[in-house]
Amino acid sequence: MSQKDIIILGIESSCDDTSAAVLKNSAILSNLIARQEIHESYGGVVPELASRAHQQNIIPVVDEAIKKAGITKEEIDAIAFTRGPGLMGSLVVGTSFAKAFSLAMNIPMIDVNHMIGHVLAHFIDDEGKDKPEFPFICLTVSGGHTQIVLVEDYLKMKVIGTTIDDAAGEAFDKAAKLLGFPYPGGPLIDKHAKLGDPKRFQFSKPQIQGYDYSFSGLKTSILYFLQKQTKENPAFIEENKDDLCASIQSTIIDILFKKLLKATRDLNIKQVAIAGGVSANSGLRTALQETGKKEGWKVFIPKFEYCTDNAAMIAITGKYMFEKELFADQSCAPTARYSMENIGN
Ligand code: KG4
Ligand code: ZN
Repeated sequence: MSQKDIIILGIESSCDDTSAAVLKNSAILSNLIARQEIHESYGGVVPELASRAHQQNIIPVVDEAIKKAGITKEEIDAIAFTRGPGLMGSLVVGTSFAKAFSLAMNIPMIDVNHMIGHVLAHFIDDEGKDKPEFPFICLTVSGGHTQIVLVEDYLKMKVIGTTIDDAAGEAFDKAAKLLGFPYPGGPLIDKHAKLGDPKRFQFSKPQIQGYDYSFSGLKTSILYFLQKQTKENPAFIEENKDDLCASIQSTIIDILFKKLLKATRDLNIKQVAIAGGVSANSGLRTALQETGKKEGWKVFIPKFEYCTDNAAMIAITGKYMFEKELFADQSCAPTARYSMENIGN
């Protein structure tokens, strides 16, 4: 190993996935994720169960990530962990683990903002793929957030648009629940949407000022529509599942793109990325490519494994913070709400 190599262990435990990754410079050596299936039957993440599952999973997942990376723990230069935003009981598991590991190994710990992690996933080495240049716009869409982010540098970001109620992932999951899918339903809507007609059903779209979003009206509009239709025909959902999924998905994408287009045109930015769990959606990925062609954008779409929650994105963010010596200390506490602006300032 040359003198300049930096090895970072990343830990992610903000919601219901326990993940550990090993990063060497900008390349991922391992990225392991333990998913918690326990929440499926509850129709959403149960915080207390998530916290307990993280406690059970964290040590085996870290062990396996180190083994798979082919390194020893003595080679790790720093541990980066998600400090927030997220569920308190989940965050505390990753934070406590990072503190103990940092103390035991006598290495720095780095407190990473999960949302910055989603954006910086674009800077993980991926053969043949370009990385965005600054400034660029990133549409960050997950189960908890929907943001238009102006990315001026690795650790300098401005949230110029956000949702005033539900996140895009929540809109997918809540619509999926109404259709009878288990949690999280977003990927199932995606799967059925591929077989359906996106123009078959129309749902209401919000009229919100600026670059902000709203998704709660859409959920209500789907609910009322389904109530009316199933009264007349109890098998309506089953008989129209694919078209319903395609129509719901295309409505969510239309809502997302209306504001994304406005922001890129107003700011005259031609480099556009997507990030977060919903960026795994095939319709959204295609829409970005097609809109990008029309608008003359250079577009950036993350690898599937770096879309939904993962520790690789925490490790790469840790690397940029390590270079600036932005370290946390043992008094660092997890935080459920955590602004991604002004990191290190
Ligand atoms: O980023 P993420 O893994 O966790 C949060 O930080 O919230 O995002 C999870 C969200 C869930 O709402 C899930 O349904 C959604 O991402 N999601 C999708 C797809 N894959 C994950 N939504 C639509 N289509 C997908 N293929
Ligand atoms: Zn996330």
